[in-house]
Amino acid sequence: MARYTGYKRPKNTKKALRELFHYMGYHKWLLLLVAVLVFISTGANVAGTYLLKPVINQFILPGDIRGLIYALIGMGIMYLCGALSTFGYNRLMVKTSQKVVADIRRDLFAHVQKLPLKYFDAHTHGELMSRFTNDVDTVQEALNNSFTMVIQSALTLTGTVVMLLVLNVNMSLIVIVFLCIMFFFIKWNGRRSKEYYDRQQAFLADINGFVEEMAAGQKVEKVFNHEEEDMKVFREKNEALRRASTKALGYSGMMVPSIVSLSYANYAVSACAGGLLAIAGRMDLGSLAAYLVYVRQSAMPLNQFTQQVNFILSALAGAERIFEMMHEEPEIDEGKVRLVRTEKTGENGRIGYAYAWQDEEGKLTPLKGDVRFENVTFGYVPDQKVLDGISLYAKPGQKIAFVGSTGAGKTTIINLINRFYEIQGGRILYDGIDIRDIRKEDLRRSLAMVIQDTHLFTGTITDNIRYGNLSATDEEVAEAARLANADSFIRRLPDGYRTMLYSDGSNLSQGQRQLLAIARAAVAHPPVLILDEATSSIDTRTERLIEKGMDAIMEGRTVFVIAHRLSTVRNSKAIMVLEHGTIIERGDHEELLEQKGRYYQLYTGMYELE
Ligand SMILES: Nc1ncnc2c1ncn2[C@@H]1O[C@H](COP(=O)(O)OP(=O)(O)O)[C@@H](O)[C@H]1O
Ligand SMILES: [Mg+2]
Repeated sequence: MARYTGYKRPKNTKKALRELFHYMGYHKWLLLLVAVLVFISTGANVAGTYLLKPVINQFILPGDIRGLIYALIGMGIMYLCGALSTFGYNRLMVKTSQKVVADIRRDLFAHVQKLPLKYFDAHTHGELMSRFTNDVDTVQEALNNSFTMVIQSALTLTGTVVMLLVLNVNMSLIVIVFLCIMFFFIKWNGRRSKEYYDRQQAFLADINGFVEEMAAGQKVEKVFNHEEEDMKVFREKNEALRRASTKALGYSGMMVPSIVSLSYANYAVSACAGGLLAIAGRMDLGSLAAYLVYVRQSAMPLNQFTQQVNFILSALAGAERIFEMMHEEPEIDEGKVRLVRTEKTGENGRIGYAYAWQDEEGKLTPLKGDVRFENVTFGYVPDQKVLDGISLYAKPGQKIAFVGSTGAGKTTIINLINRFYEIQGGRILYDGIDIRDIRKEDLRRSLAMVIQDTHLFTGTITDNIRYGNLSATDEEVAEAARLANADSFIRRLPDGYRTMLYSDGSNLSQGQRQLLAIARAAVAHPPVLILDEATSSIDTRTERLIEKGMDAIMEGRTVFVIAHRLSTVRNSKAIMVLEHGTIIERGDHEELLEQKGRYYQLYTGMYELE
């Protein structure tokens, strides 16, 4: 029996089916072949049974051994064809369904990559994961088995009932009555189990979430001695799940034995009635034998049919969720201006890179790195302004710093340069071009960013640094690491640059991860560099050490820095002090100190603390 997949129903069955068929349509010839084989297999089984009648009446009763042997060989061939067809369509269906599912997974992944950050802000990772695991699984299972089983059981059931009617109309009434009883029993039982299965699923999801949270928050749990407390909560959830599962499985476990008993009763009643008819000479023995075999066969397809329809419906509900995700609005990218990279030879004879914007006509303008905000207004949710009327400019090669208290909107500003989010008012110009006119991919390629929450991928240290520029040589990677002062700690690791990093680099310290992130940005040779609290977890001594490297990285680039430590931003060309999404002060270090405003407070406050 297939795994329980829930009794979920799609909101719009037709639409989900249509979209699923769209994917299946790529393999329509294979599917047609499957249908033909299903038909042959079912036909052979139903017809094979019917052959009992002539075999008994024409060969066994008259004692025609030769004829009997031929007839049995004929029957054998027929059943063999049936069996081969069954084997064939199962293999084909597995192959086809895996292709369909792989296509769906591929398209889903491709689409998810195109979704805007706004989408990820509003949906949990668990939700995304369950599209890729649970939902894809149920679709796969339904494609593997259910589609063919539904067709086969429907054909078998129809064929059987037709054959029963052909063999003996009156006696068929008995079977039909029994089939009706079974049908209603299955429906009733399904409704009851659905109730408890739904509850079971809800409790299961609850428990899963709890375990996940516990694992993720292990340190905090241990620090605050929350084990007992959590155990207590877990016990309650576990108990609730146990109760719901027992009931659900109780009902569904009742199903098969009940159907089997009903089918035996059906058989017994039919056999008695048939026997009486045969004694009375109103039914020949051949018909009776064939008839009774059909009776035995009749319950299974009915049970199978209803069950598989349920599976298909819940798979369609899963498919619907997948397709809904695929219909989510992707990031808008209507930009036409491209960024092209031209190589140039630097003073020391080494190859460096230069970039140029290329408009639709192919005209090249060298990239300078001039970024301007003109009265930019933005909120993550439309009516909640996070940034209000931000205007600023960064001329090529300038270093611009943002300071301000937590939540002031510093990260938000730089998220906008990248076009992670769409602004609601004003415009952002990059070398005089509205960033909305630049192809997103190219815009982002021209900016290297060390984001506030560093992310490292599973792979070696080299892989992680090279992430910034896939064409970098090992030597370039090492040089970037030296610039970021990461080289010395990397060398001390057991496998040096080949050390594997797992789960976001949890085998490194926070500061080391930041050094790698800086190296990653350095290797990209970006015209514009953005550092968001890039050195927040690095001690002051190391920070001094990397300062030189950082200066080298920043050399000739437009740089945006956000830093808590004001010593880091002191040498910036312009410092913007942000408060509640507006720039309240701006100027260089000296000017801001003279103003004796917010910056002065922050700066002298820091002095006191140090
Ligand atoms: N992804 C997000 N969705 C909704 N609100 C956000 C999001 N990120 C930040 N905010 C809100 O925007 C404001 C500014 O945040 P941020 O720019 O991260 O501040 P910071 O200056 O500390 O970097 C905060 O009030 C924060 O709650
Ligand atoms: Mg921030």
